[in-house]
Amino acid sequence: MEPIISTKGLKKIFRIGKVDVPALRGVDLRVQEGEFVAVVGPSGCGKSTLLHVLGGLTSPTEGHVLVDGNDFRGMSDADRTRFRRHKIGFVFQRYNLLPTLTARHNISIATHIQGNGFNPHRFQAVTSMLGITEKLEHRPYALSGGEQQRVAIARAVICEPKILLADEPTGNLDTENSQIVLDMMRELNRTFRQTILMITHNLEAAAVADRIIRMRDGRIISD
Ligand SMILES: Nc1ncnc2c1ncn2[C@@H]1O[C@H](COP(=O)(O)OP(=O)(O)OP(=O)(O)O)[C@@H](O)[C@H]1O
Ligand SMILES: [Mg+2]
Repeated sequence: MEPIISTKGLKKIFRIGKVDVPALRGVDLRVQEGEFVAVVGPSGCGKSTLLHVLGGLTSPTEGHVLVDGNDFRGMSDADRTRFRRHKIGFVFQRYNLLPTLTARHNISIATHIQGNGFNPHRFQAVTSMLGITEKLEHRPYALSGGEQQRVAIARAVICEPKILLADEPTGNLDTENSQIVLDMMRELNRTFRQTILMITHNLEAAAVADRIIRMRDGRIISD
């Protein structure tokens, strides 16, 4: 079977003034549809950069990226944005919820941006799986950290993205809320065969995944 994500010789070099900062130094990665992959490694080793490149948030400096059959080379920014809206759900470490909107609207707005219409059955299935049906009329300030994180996950998966990319989704949570969020990710993976790539610093979090990728200095050192 063709992998849903495949990269070859992927490099990303940031340029600050006259200094080149290599964040990715040649990453070869293949992820099959339905896999739940954890990405671990020390701070600064390129984990977020890898996720941003795979999600079309940043373009690679060199190398080959195929995501669900789409080649990023030669794609314009507009094409990559469109691609991202339709194929990728992104969970940011800091949630990025809109403070003036209720949980319900924070989630449903993603379907309006994507433009494929609101699916009430999907909304019901996702919010009940994430255990937030009672909290939908709350604005972010009236939600706990774990609830905000679950709303952010609901927003990321509401449009049925083929791939869920999560940058430390339990980074700001206590043990109990981390466990709730991890159980939900596992459940999404099992129930919807959701492909997930999750960055984490937490070994317990990594243990729920099918596969652990270790990075160091912009490379994968074990898989
Ligand atoms: N926009 C940017 N401009 C310049 N350098 C950057 C930029 N983003 C990241 N870097 C550099 O690229 C390297 C990899 O950063 P990245 O954010 O991918 O690390 P990370 O593995 O996610 O670390 P952490 O665990 O601390 O989040 C670091 O050296 C960082 O300083
Ligand atoms: Mg990071």
